[in-house]
Amino acid sequence: QQTAPFDYVIFGATGDLTMRKLLPALYNQLRIGHVPEEARIIGTARSSLSRDEYIIRAREALETFLPEQHKDAELIERFLKKVHYVTLDGTKSDHNWDDLKAVLDQSPADRIRVFYYSTAPQLFEAISENLHRFGFITPQSRVVLEKPIGTDSASAKAINDGVSRFFDEKQIFRIDHYLGKETVQDIIALRFANPIFNAIWSAEHIQSIQITAAETVGVEGRAAYYDTSGALRDMIQNHLLQVLSLCAMEAPADLEADTVRDAKVNVLKALRPIPEDKVASETVRAQYVKGEMKGKPVPGYLEELGEDSHTETYAAMRAYIDTPRWKGVPFYIRTAKRSTKKVSEVIVTFRKSASSLFGASAASNRLVIRLQPDEGFGLALNIKNPSAAGFDLQHGAMSGKFAPADGSLIPDSYERLMLDAVRGYPALFIRRDEVEAAWAWVEPTLKTWAANKVPMAHYAAGSYGPEEARRFIATTGDSWHEDMAD
Ligand code: BG6
Repeated sequence: QQTAPFDYVIFGATGDLTMRKLLPALYNQLRIGHVPEEARIIGTARSSLSRDEYIIRAREALETFLPEQHKDAELIERFLKKVHYVTLDGTKSDHNWDDLKAVLDQSPADRIRVFYYSTAPQLFEAISENLHRFGFITPQSRVVLEKPIGTDSASAKAINDGVSRFFDEKQIFRIDHYLGKETVQDIIALRFANPIFNAIWSAEHIQSIQITAAETVGVEGRAAYYDTSGALRDMIQNHLLQVLSLCAMEAPADLEADTVRDAKVNVLKALRPIPEDKVASETVRAQYVKGEMKGKPVPGYLEELGEDSHTETYAAMRAYIDTPRWKGVPFYIRTAKRSTKKVSEVIVTFRKSASSLFGASAASNRLVIRLQPDEGFGLALNIKNPSAAGFDLQHGAMSGKFAPADGSLIPDSYERLMLDAVRGYPALFIRRDEVEAAWAWVEPTLKTWAANKVPMAHYAAGSYGPEEARRFIATTGDSWHEDMAD
């Protein structure tokens, strides 16, 4: 549904995220009628640009990043009429705040304002302070914080404290774009709208859960940021722990924001700590070395970076959730750059049949929730092999797609999230206690890795990951999805 009129003020408006994701997302929402005619997008950044110059960049971004079937020349021009630009260093109080005021003053004073910080997190507090100083934070204002919220518990707390000096928690929307993925929300639908899964979703029937986010990309162009982060901070602390909490949470009483977030944070708080002396057996970290992708040679991480580094591009962890529902069930979480293929998925492996009718030939049932690409689900079953003389089993499957039935594309995660911030609906944003609980759990691993107490494994670019990860998962009797027999 269409939102109320809004002014979206983006800090970091010349950056990659704005061009690649934020502008296309708002355009698409205009295309499907969710953005009202009065809405405006006000880009700000330090680059000295006129409005016309910025609009040229924005047009190029839409041409480059919109799917072909969404491009409409007339609509692009209508969208660009909403775009404004103010050259502004948000951290400096003596900068062009009057210019921003002049643009904002063209709207009624009670217009919804969303301040989107697509900048380094160290700037969040200073920008908030200036917005406050110049009276820009109205009761109808909200702020959207991009990840990463810090690099550890202490820095996350400092950032949260800094922003909370000027915005109430209910005005703060911390983005985790995985929650904006329709397919991630399908985890909630599959679990709670289907009694057949709901009834067997526990340690009694589930042997293990595997959560993977593998990418084919390396760190080209982002090495400076990535090298200060690494796979654990970049993907696990946020995206994959969010997916884990949706897979593991108790049924919320309703779908209100705080009910769902309470259920998720309870999972994060119940994660069994991995003490420093267990990190070596419960985690794997690795870097890609040179390899081959689609038949072409690709350099290793250190070659791309041009210097030595102890930053991991692959991370795998084994997590246990200390609640009665999940007693003893391992959750394997892993992420990789330069993997064989791009895939984000959840694999639920059920316990083997207790019946001895078919002996070892009955494989475990397995539910695959494919978050991207080829979004959909599959359930691996045992069926009878019709061509065998005896009663042999063979692999059967039930599957379905998450894509809309009318053939349209699944919306990009930012589309939903950007307008939810306008609507003031925070269910798909991370609450402060969730961010802090997630940092608390990964911190001993971060520290142990930083002290180089766990050897860095290696894998060839274009492979599934290091041999060490295979041995790691085998210690609890499991194997990674690509290695599974059926
Ligand atoms: C971002 C990470 O948050 O998520 C990137 O910083 C990563 O390193 C990206 O590539 C992955 O997102 P998606 O939606 O492509 O899985």
